[in-house]
Amino acid sequence: MRKIGAMLTAMAFATGMSAQTHVFDVNTSKIGGAIPSTMYGIFFEDINYAADGGLYGELVKNRSFEFPQHFMGWKAFGKFELKNDGPFNKNPHYVRLNDSGHTDKFTGLENEGFFGIGYKKDADYRFTVWARTPYGDGDVTVRVLFCDPSTMGERQQFSESKIVVSGKEWKKYEVVIKANKTVDKGTLRLMLTRNSKTVDLEHISLFPVDVYKGDENGLRKDLAEALEQMKPGVFRFPGGCIVEGTDLATRYQWKNSVGQVENRPLNENRWHYTFDYRFFPDYYQSYGLGFYEYFRLSEQIGAEPLPVLSVGLSCEFQNGDKRCDKHVDVDQLQPYIDDVLDLIEFANGDPEKNSWAKLRADMGHPAPFNLKYVAIGNEQWGAIYPENLKPFIEQVRKKYPNIKIIGTSGPDSEGDKFDYLWPEMRKLGADLVDEHFYRNEQWFLNSGNRYDNYKRGKGQPKVFAGEYACHGKGKKWNHFNAALMEAAFMTDLERNADVVEMATYAPLFAHVDGWQWRPDAIWYDNLRSFNSCSYYVQQLYSLNKGTNMISLTMNGKPVAGNDGQDGLFASAAFDKNTSEYIIKIVNTGDKDQKVTLNLKGLKKGEHKGTKITFHSDNPIAENTLDNPKAVIPVTSSLSINGASQEVTAAAKTFVIYRFSK
Ligand code: AHR
Repeated sequence: MRKIGAMLTAMAFATGMSAQTHVFDVNTSKIGGAIPSTMYGIFFEDINYAADGGLYGELVKNRSFEFPQHFMGWKAFGKFELKNDGPFNKNPHYVRLNDSGHTDKFTGLENEGFFGIGYKKDADYRFTVWARTPYGDGDVTVRVLFCDPSTMGERQQFSESKIVVSGKEWKKYEVVIKANKTVDKGTLRLMLTRNSKTVDLEHISLFPVDVYKGDENGLRKDLAEALEQMKPGVFRFPGGCIVEGTDLATRYQWKNSVGQVENRPLNENRWHYTFDYRFFPDYYQSYGLGFYEYFRLSEQIGAEPLPVLSVGLSCEFQNGDKRCDKHVDVDQLQPYIDDVLDLIEFANGDPEKNSWAKLRADMGHPAPFNLKYVAIGNEQWGAIYPENLKPFIEQVRKKYPNIKIIGTSGPDSEGDKFDYLWPEMRKLGADLVDEHFYRNEQWFLNSGNRYDNYKRGKGQPKVFAGEYACHGKGKKWNHFNAALMEAAFMTDLERNADVVEMATYAPLFAHVDGWQWRPDAIWYDNLRSFNSCSYYVQQLYSLNKGTNMISLTMNGKPVAGNDGQDGLFASAAFDKNTSEYIIKIVNTGDKDQKVTLNLKGLKKGEHKGTKITFHSDNPIAENTLDNPKAVIPVTSSLSINGASQEVTAAAKTFVIYRFSK
């Protein structure tokens, strides 16, 4: 007997296959509770140049000359002046260009963009500028040039056009210019012609014509499409710590992010300073991608908007959790509470009755955005948080009883802050509690049962896993194994869809030249982008979510990487819309595992479907700009016969079986 046992073990090692067969009982005849449509969503924060320099289509940095160093991002040459009595009162600075005074000298400006300006050969770009001739003494021609500063060719400019400015009144000028070359780190250069009159220029802007959905003030197409292709159920915005600000003055103020784009005041980005080892002194928020653009994008990609607003506490990592002048006292909170109430009106209100709703209509969206959620506070902790949150909840409830309010459990997945805040959120009657976990592989492997024993049922807040990602130990970047850990953990979200209402991986975007934080879901430079392994995991869950849970157990227990489960994680769902079963299995171990799917109640005969496999032989493999599809899911056809099905859960693999009823 011992000998045979030894032989079997030896064979198992030889094939890399575990000898044991795992029997998963899937109860296909009992359709369980609903999986919320919001379950898998996205979290956007302007970190890593996610907005300006990222999703926002604008290519010009510091377009309104409002950075504290007013020419940051610009090179000005010849005779120029900075003026501050421009046509937009919240962005009063502009530039006056005078004739150089010499036929062989030039006056003009050159913008460096965000880590350069990306131009694509044959693509059209819309250049706009507000301008006037202040003395009204004749027309001024401004040459508009797309340049490649690093070329060894004769001429740096590869495309050129012009605008002719006339009259003393400020007017908007526009010209569409085709790029005759592909350049990833180009510039935009403006030059006066010789013997020119004086001209004033303000809000100098350049967008690709081909932005997402062709929207005015639009979004970079490849990045917005990557979001659309995730089919997110919910869209959290605008952060993150950015909601709180390094101080109260630099918190995200949504009212500054709506209305005429030229008149949205600049904000210093919270991520300008945080890490001295990844320091970007030119990181500001133009608010060009503001709350209107956010609600519009949510609608376009079919996600429920979930705005997060300040609770009157600036970032507690930077300012502590005790009452001080960095935080707002409870009796001074009304303007902050009004921000929440007014945002609900901006999103949902009647334009005939409310000025914020009227602004929404004037901006082009008379119909409501149908906002259902609002989160108040980001990663707050200590007694100051529930104290501040209370009056927000009271006033929002009173005026908008149907809006669901999300409170936070702080920055940690467990521990003192977390243990203190959950009961506080219950006391205050929060509808959902936001949990954050950036943790290593082991944490994810150990957390497969996290939500199995959460309090559930009437009166209990639901969970919003509002920020999470596997930060590989010593390997803190987007590699396959980290994504596999996330896939394993997400079986727990799915199995507990009665407790977990939504989850958003974080952060979403990163510019390869400007990141402060990784891993992230989507990476890009000025011309190209790619989806990380974690993106694909999120997308696989979202596209294969199903509408209802079904029970999947092994020896009566959830499959969650526990003892005797050989690193397997699994969950099952049913999709009422397509009448399909969806079984997800994640094998986090390095041996193949035999699994018998005991499909209790499944009709006899053939059930056709698809099998989607996400695997890499190299655990630290990653997608890159040069090899964007190094690790992607592979789909094949599937035929299930009968109520018992043998499958192999291959080592280090996330597999989805999807088959008809
Ligand atoms: O996602 C990056 C940061 O992580 C968020 O701003 C913050 O909420 C968390 O600490």
